[in-house]
Amino acid sequence: MRNFVLGVVITILVLVLGGLAFALLGYMPTNADAPPPHIEMRIAMNALDASMDRHAPRVTNPLPATDDNLIDGMKVYTMNCSACHGTLDNKRSPLEHSFYPPAPQFVFDPPDDPEWHLYYAISTGVRYTGMPAWNNALSEQDRWKVTAFLSHLEKLPPAVQDYWKKSFGAAPQGTDMKDMPGMDKGKEEKH
Ligand code: HEC
Repeated sequence: MRNFVLGVVITILVLVLGGLAFALLGYMPTNADAPPPHIEMRIAMNALDASMDRHAPRVTNPLPATDDNLIDGMKVYTMNCSACHGTLDNKRSPLEHSFYPPAPQFVFDPPDDPEWHLYYAISTGVRYTGMPAWNNALSEQDRWKVTAFLSHLEKLPPAVQDYWKKSFGAAPQGTDMKDMPGMDKGKEEKH
């Protein structure tokens, strides 16, 4: 029994020291411009969702999704988010693949998470990725407005769509674009 316990302790020690040596001797890649392996992506996304489920308060948006609030959300998005998540003239961000994991392009692939999840992700950021926490940079109201904008991307009222077209010279893509070949998440190709 004593030998068994010793064996377990030594194995754990070797693994920990091995991991440390791997990192400290410079074998761990730190570049962000590489596509994460499929399995890593799956585990990380599931861990992220599980952590959100555990930590994020189930709050509802205190602001109604009026035309004005959605248009304000669009402005907040353009000013703060579009550089990484894609601009409203329907262009993918040139930085899309400069993050590890890549930044989702919301115009082509609207988020399908509930608002409490989006609000928490926007407010607190996502650790080990390029997603900043916005709670110090944007007011609570602006964070809720941009949350509403993102969660309504596929169902924006006509007046908000008109504002989008007038301001950016392009029509919101929402659902239409997702049905086009090559536009769904799994098959997305590097541009
Ligand atoms: C500097 C680049 C950058 C900026 C600016 C940025 N993001 Fe992100 N964002 C990222 C990256 C990279 C990810 C991918 C993280 C991941 O896969 O979990 C991400 C992920 C997200 C997610 C998904 C989180 C989840 O749970 O999967 C949401 C929602 C989001 N961003 C919203 C926003 C909003 C709203 C803004 C503006 C207020 C913004 N982001 C600004 C880089 C950025």
